[in-house]
Amino acid sequence: MGAVPEFLLRKLVVPGSLKSAGQGFLFEINNTFVPVNLLRFNLRADGQDIPSEQVTIIHPGVQSVTGAQVTPQQPFELPVNTPMRIEVAAPPPQKELTIQAETREAGLLQFSIPTHSGIDDQPRFAGLRNFFRRLPYYPRIIKARLDPQRPKAHFAAPAHWLNDPNGLIYWKGRYHLFYQFNPFGAVWGNMHWGHASSPDLLHWQHMPIAMAPDPGGADAGGCFSGCAVDDAGKATFLYTAVWPECQCLAVGEGDDLKSLHKHPTPIIPAPPSGLEVEGFRDPCVWRQDGEWRMVIGSGLRGVGGAILLYRSADLRAWEYLGILCQGDIHQKEPLWTGTMWECPSFFPQGDRWVLIVSACHSDGALYTLYLTGQYADNRFTPDDPARLVDFGAGGCYYAPQTFLDESNRRVIIGWLREARSPAEMTRAGWSGAMSLPRLLSLGADGSLRSAPIDKVDTLRGTRERLDQPGQISTLHGPSLEARFTLPTHCDQWTGVEVITDAFAQPLRIGYDPDRGVLLADCRAAGGLLSEAPLDLAVEDRTPIRIFLDGSVLEVFAGDRIALAARYYLTTPSQARLRSVGLAAIDLWETVV
Ligand code: FRU
Repeated sequence: MGAVPEFLLRKLVVPGSLKSAGQGFLFEINNTFVPVNLLRFNLRADGQDIPSEQVTIIHPGVQSVTGAQVTPQQPFELPVNTPMRIEVAAPPPQKELTIQAETREAGLLQFSIPTHSGIDDQPRFAGLRNFFRRLPYYPRIIKARLDPQRPKAHFAAPAHWLNDPNGLIYWKGRYHLFYQFNPFGAVWGNMHWGHASSPDLLHWQHMPIAMAPDPGGADAGGCFSGCAVDDAGKATFLYTAVWPECQCLAVGEGDDLKSLHKHPTPIIPAPPSGLEVEGFRDPCVWRQDGEWRMVIGSGLRGVGGAILLYRSADLRAWEYLGILCQGDIHQKEPLWTGTMWECPSFFPQGDRWVLIVSACHSDGALYTLYLTGQYADNRFTPDDPARLVDFGAGGCYYAPQTFLDESNRRVIIGWLREARSPAEMTRAGWSGAMSLPRLLSLGADGSLRSAPIDKVDTLRGTRERLDQPGQISTLHGPSLEARFTLPTHCDQWTGVEVITDAFAQPLRIGYDPDRGVLLADCRAAGGLLSEAPLDLAVEDRTPIRIFLDGSVLEVFAGDRIALAARYYLTTPSQARLRSVGLAAIDLWETVV
């Protein structure tokens, strides 16, 4: 397919990623077009072929192959929006690097990138260069603010890409939310820590970027996810630096934690020797028996997701204690737990311990799941098989982090992923939102319960009650809350429809008696169909709560079902609700 212009192909190389490394060099490619299978992958430095066995393609935490191993018989999958790291054991090119990628879907793609201005490994100029690369961010903040699809009650970055919540902590009277942030675009990459603070977990003030990768440092490839703890009055952050993945530490400065001061060297430089791990990231730290404990998300190759346990007296020197808990890639029912577990959260709740992990596999994120069970002798033994934390389809709710609020209650915030393509995210200029903060508790049956924190009610503005069949609300979007109870007997679809003038097909949220599920069908507006089993015999008087917010939907059935989804109405401000088969719906405008 000679038709793809070279300037577009050049965008495959992540800006600023080309660096010298040891005797060779490395760079990242990020396929933002369509998934392709590589049949051959060759590089040329200044017109000279680089032997393909000197080229390694690394899908971080998943697989690594040499260029020579990429063949039509053994193609290498290049998924969308998943940066791959290319390491080359050859001198870096002086003038240009040529990339030849033969693909099954698009034929031969060949393009060159100039390197004559030097390989990007000069920390001296990184600040200035980043300043210029970040310039488009500022006009995009204004564009994002005007975008009616951008949520109001759900936190989103001022513009550009956001993923996992990080370093959640209540500190000196305010809540702090750090988050995975790309200040250079609305797709994943260049991971920094964005920052916001709030008096109540609902009204957020954006703060300056808290942490950036240091060129030449352990986190030159990105500051990945991590947590916060109170170390005798010092807010201390533990996070993963890449590449290779290692664990690092930073100390918050000032009461407002405006910037984080990094410890000069990694505190855990590598995974435990002797373990063949897939991924080694996202520390979660707590205090236990007068010392610190840490779990790190990982996977054991060919075995399944795994959580590695450590201990320390001072947060800086760590001793590996073994595998806290592991999954089984061969067990597909009731829920497949993937090949690697990201973003663990491990904490006591009621009479048990809870482990929450975000399960992923080589094609990317799956969903967030939890286990409850017993923790003794450095092992966690689940009482039951893994269950979903949230029922949103497509792993919408991912990489959550838990923390204790000012009243010592366990709160969880998750990243709500987009259901749209990278091209659409780039067009919008922003991507990703956080869930509403949810309060966690443990049911008598050992199930993890969650519901929005009480304070969410303070966002209720004008109220309306729909008590006629088929009645359409006068209140309209973009941000609404609805509450109703399902009738004891439902033999027809019952719930609310979200209608706009622009869309013939409504979104539907309610109970489907044929399938016995609570569903949120966002397919009419670029979203997905999500379903959660709901037993009306048990749940008939359970309040169903719906939060519609720009392009974010959260649905709760009491504290038993939580379901997050995304939808993309062209005019979310015209969204109105229609009652279908319900005696009454209470409705509020959400005011932030
Ligand atoms: C989860 C995750 C983490 C990692 C971070 C990088 O979404 O992949 O495992 O630390 O995102 O942005």
